Amino acid sequence: MMQTWKVAISVVGTLLLAGAAMAQSGAQSGAQPATRPDMRAIKHGGGLAKHYCSVCHAIGPLGDSPNPLSPPFRELGRRYPLDDLQESLVEGIVSGHPAMPQFVFQAADANDLVAYLKSIQVPAAPKTSPSATVTSH
Ligand code: HEC
Repeated sequence: MMQTWKVAISVVGTLLLAGAAMAQSGAQSGAQPATRPDMRAIKHGGGLAKHYCSVCHAIGPLGDSPNPLSPPFRELGRRYPLDDLQESLVEGIVSGHPAMPQFVFQAADANDLVAYLKSIQVPAAPKTSPSATVTSH
């Protein structure tokens, strides 16, 4: 489990670097292949998260949610597959909880928001990691 996350994180890191490189060469090379991670989507999704969600949720890689009831976005992936969330965002059924307002996003915006969420996910707490057993020392 942890290993999967580490791989996922290092992949994201590599892709971020690749994205920066592509941004520099993008003017000459033209359209990017659709299968590559879309840095524009992640950036746009981050903007959406900041605009619509950051009043209550921690949207970055660090920090607590302003509204303590709201799960930090970097941990949402522990609850369920983020791909499922994309559909929910479009259908406007993100949460049945009255404390959270209902949002209905265009498919493209939902896609970008989820791309952003995927880019900031962090592994579960260290206690689940076999290499971080504090009591053994
Ligand atoms: C007014 C405060 C508020 C805003 C703004 C807000 N949320 Fe929430 N959100 C909450 C609260 C409170 C919960 C916890 C609900 C619960 O535990 O049932 C929550 C839970 C969630 C969950 C988890 C739902 C679940 O079933 O586990 C997701 C996903 C989520 N919010 C996404 C978003 C997104 C995306 C935005 C911006 C488009 C957003 N929220 C904006 C308050 C907010």
